[in-house]
Amino acid sequence: MAKVNVKICMGTTCFVMGSSQLQDLVDIVNKRYGEDVVVVGSTCLNYCTDNSEYSKAPYVKVDDVIIQEATIDKVLQEIDRKLKEDGKQ
Ligand code: FES
Repeated sequence: MAKVNVKICMGTTCFVMGSSQLQDLVDIVNKRYGEDVVVVGSTCLNYCTDNSEYSKAPYVKVDDVIIQEATIDKVLQEIDRKLKEDGKQ
């Protein structure tokens, strides 16, 4: 069964811009979705350099969708959307 893969960028820009606060996602996702969703930390995903002065960090990737200025709510919404699309909810 396909899983949804979530990558939280832990590169310097994203970390400084708040991705450290997204680490609670690991517990939240585990409790809410069990094995259907896998959350991992990642080195710089290279999105922060596209427009560095006005970077939209922190970045999180949910499968192939890039979430800018990521918050826990935004990531959970995208996971829900993805699971619905995959017919798991
Ligand atoms: S530090 Fe996150 S995309 Fe570069």
